[in-house]
Amino acid sequence: DYDRQIEELINQMTLQEKIGQMNLYSGFYDVTGPVPQQGSAAEKYEHLRNGWVGAMLNVRGAVETRKLQQIAVEETRLGIPLLFGLDVIHGQKTLAPIPLAEAASWDLKAIENSARIAAIEASAEGIHWTFAPMVDISRDARWGRVMEGAGEDSFLGAKIAEARVNGFQGEDLSATNTIAACAKHFAAYGFAESGRDYNTVDIGLYSLYNTVLPPFKATVDSGVKTFMNAFNTLNGVPATGDANLQRKILKMKWGFDGFVVSDWGSVAEMQAHGFAKDSTQAAKLAANAGSDMDMASGVYLKNLAQLVQDGKVDEEKIDDAVRRILQVKFELGLFDDPFKYSDERREMETIYHPNHQAAALEMAKKSIVLLKNDGKLLPLNKNQNKVLIVGDLADDKNSPLGSWRLASEDGTAVSVIEGIKNYTSKFQYVKGPTAFNSGSFLKNVEINSTDTTGISEAVNAAKNAEVVVMVLGEHGFMSGEGRSRTNLEIPGIQRELLKAVHKVNPNIVLVLMNGRPLTLSWEDEHIPAILETWHLGSQSGNAIAQVLFGDYNPSGKLPMTFPRNIGQVPIYYNHFSTGRPDNKEGNVFWSHYTDEQNSPLYPFGYGLSYTTFEYKDLTIDTTDQKTIKVSVIVSNVGTIAGEEVVQLYLQDPYASLVRPVRELKGFEKIQLQAGESKTVHFELTEKELGFYNLDYEWIVEPGDFKVMVGRNSRDVLSNNFILE
Ligand code: IFM
Repeated sequence: DYDRQIEELINQMTLQEKIGQMNLYSGFYDVTGPVPQQGSAAEKYEHLRNGWVGAMLNVRGAVETRKLQQIAVEETRLGIPLLFGLDVIHGQKTLAPIPLAEAASWDLKAIENSARIAAIEASAEGIHWTFAPMVDISRDARWGRVMEGAGEDSFLGAKIAEARVNGFQGEDLSATNTIAACAKHFAAYGFAESGRDYNTVDIGLYSLYNTVLPPFKATVDSGVKTFMNAFNTLNGVPATGDANLQRKILKMKWGFDGFVVSDWGSVAEMQAHGFAKDSTQAAKLAANAGSDMDMASGVYLKNLAQLVQDGKVDEEKIDDAVRRILQVKFELGLFDDPFKYSDERREMETIYHPNHQAAALEMAKKSIVLLKNDGKLLPLNKNQNKVLIVGDLADDKNSPLGSWRLASEDGTAVSVIEGIKNYTSKFQYVKGPTAFNSGSFLKNVEINSTDTTGISEAVNAAKNAEVVVMVLGEHGFMSGEGRSRTNLEIPGIQRELLKAVHKVNPNIVLVLMNGRPLTLSWEDEHIPAILETWHLGSQSGNAIAQVLFGDYNPSGKLPMTFPRNIGQVPIYYNHFSTGRPDNKEGNVFWSHYTDEQNSPLYPFGYGLSYTTFEYKDLTIDTTDQKTIKVSVIVSNVGTIAGEEVVQLYLQDPYASLVRPVRELKGFEKIQLQAGESKTVHFELTEKELGFYNLDYEWIVEPGDFKVMVGRNSRDVLSNNFILE
């Protein structure tokens, strides 16, 4: 409890020093060069000395963070330590799979451990605070940021959000190897219209309460220390200026006691939104709405003091924001030792630690989803001759690292070729056409759609191969912030390559790398084996090779629906039934498309294994109406051991607000030896049986319920019960 220390400090602070704590600047001080004498960097440096900077982002490494911390602690009047934040999204230097890929593991312990490792490496580089987890639910694969979340489902999303917060923050935030987490983007950023980043969000209260908010609430319940608001408007109000979200729901209803940071420049952007007439009004609206810290727009520092003096912002609101920020600094232990995170020795010992690489490999294997495996083409035989590998991405050591990897080093992924070399030298590699011409975090990826050089070489080689492994997909920077697409196919010339090779040798294993669901209708129809590997991080090639050669039996399940056709987007499994759900032969007037099926290509929760699982005896025990007990027997009827994610879905077939056709309400990942069976048990309490009404109250309505259990959201056993 730091209340007394915080009050003492606040009592000593000038108004501008308080506002300084609410100011977050991006890194500006080059410690390897001379201190800038003029320009904005010089000005920010001056602000730092004045005690007008509370936190910084994008400062990396023990040396840089120490140097800046020294200025804050030794040169400012009150010596309040800085908070260093960074987007540590799926690792610092050792990279785990992108978050969407990790979500495909449905393995909460592994996901928590992955965040733990990210925190260990980031904290060793002087970072106190990560802008993660992103807990935005999204049903739109066009939106590039789906790579950073846990997919389309709130239940799975909430469990993963909790795991990630626990991983980053650990048991003791003051330990040197834990960092503060940040639940973002509050709220509804994942519902940007037409999947275009930063776009308008206009959704009803039903979706807000039942779909968008639950993962955020789960992070508050897990003790998350910070929240980030969002770039988007929600029903006409920019999230950054939304008092209902930030004050009423987050801080009052949920009792969140940490602080809210704006997104990059989002306070000032309220002018462009057409919500604030100038930067003064933007500062006023954001501060009053409960946005405690201004990331990068500088408008708090410039305007808040005057606004307080003019009586437009209550100083009590400033004090509240400062208390929240100082509280996190105290909890991190920065007042005891502001330099404890900036430790070069620990940095050297920790970064790329073999244990971290081993964990990244495990996580990567668990994240792979087997989408198709006709004729048991996979796994490949280790001694098989004449394996041909094709594709620019097969030899790529950057793309598999994925997007959002600010502190990572280029070229540090194990490529597929390197991974396969660990198994066999009996393969041939033909790159084929260049897939991408350029691409980086700050530069759009240039996709090669025209230069066919290399296709004929690949085709000729394919004629003599027994099996062709084709590594195709998206560049690592085709997803992430600002990376929306209007086309979800395998990009550019790669599809032409695939079709050309298929003509001469259809015995193809398609290894996909991508940061979002793709449309794969042609591929599904023609290619016998398809492996979804997302962007798997540092150990990518090793993980893929282990799955290709059967040393790891794939167990991942899709956290997002794969459409047949982009016209189906947004597409998601837990939709409503509509008043006209049934396909009556030849009928026109029902809810459907005339040129495509309604169903997805691969449903939510889908993923195959090298073994086969069978489900039977779905039973429901309603003796105790407060805890409905469900069980099912799952058997491994194949010849090798494997893991299965047993999924429970629920439907409330009629209610005062219509309910989805099914909703995930439980899952368990189990391991079964060949021939082994297990009874899996679930419990349904009011937490699973209810929903939020439009007054944001949780209600449970008695009546009929349908329970479905199975290996994905489509292939299920079902049974019913009545809640009295
Ligand atoms: O954390 C991110 C956020 O998700 C998007 N805008 C920039 C922030 C800081 O890099």
